[in-house]
Amino acid sequence: MDNRPIGVFDSGLGGLTAVKELLSIMPNENIIYFGDTGRVPYGSRSRETITKYAAQDTAFLESKNVKMIIAACGTVSSVASGIGESLSLPYTGVLKPTAIAAAASTRNKKIGVIATTATIRSGSYRRELSAIDPEIEVFDRDCPLFVPLVENGWIAENEEVTRLVAQRYLTPLRESGIDTLIMGCTHYPIIRHFISEVMGSGVTLIDSGRETALYCSAMLKERGLLCGRSTQGDCSFYVSDRMEGFSQIAGIFLGKDIKREVSHVNID
Ligand code: SIN
Repeated sequence: MDNRPIGVFDSGLGGLTAVKELLSIMPNENIIYFGDTGRVPYGSRSRETITKYAAQDTAFLESKNVKMIIAACGTVSSVASGIGESLSLPYTGVLKPTAIAAAASTRNKKIGVIATTATIRSGSYRRELSAIDPEIEVFDRDCPLFVPLVENGWIAENEEVTRLVAQRYLTPLRESGIDTLIMGCTHYPIIRHFISEVMGSGVTLIDSGRETALYCSAMLKERGLLCGRSTQGDCSFYVSDRMEGFSQIAGIFLGKDIKREVSHVNID
């Protein structure tokens, strides 16, 4: 048993899709979340910059004495894939759990991947899926406007701009005949309603945040690292820019007021 917190990081709000699932499947665990809101988005940056940011993010979480680190960021998981090897703690990114879930879901072996430009350019999902099953055909598309739309809170059903952007990005994917679509950036499940509206009910959406939380829970169980607490765990949030915007949008997404749990950190 290990009562230390689970550390989760992302470039901004997206990793909350993993946190929401962690809170639901392991409500007694403490969680420390870092959202690098001062430097989001990561997905349009170079490999060197993304790797540097990821190293700073993990060092911050290590300084908080966490028992495990989750890179709840598709871009870090794809581009800075070696980051886990430099850590002495259990670590997971989103890539492997998400690819496993997608491969298990597809019936026609046609899988779509939407993610940031850096993730798509890295070819990470193509490699991972082909290692699981070489017969899987991958149709990918970067959707660089989705992250700024989410970070600016344009997430409600009546946001017509977000709807139009989703239609523009996703219509060609719908026509490709895929039966499974990986939301390979953890921000995207926050606008899942727009994505499923375009893709239709015949396409199964794979939520990288959710799949990674389930994978983390299995990892902790297997290693005997689940907490021994029987009371509700605490969740603390750290951001590298203004706390207000994050608290407001995160509060809407998580369905609770988190203002008092949010602090600022100078990550650089
Ligand atoms: C971004 O910061 O561009 C998105 C992070 C992700 O890929 O999940």
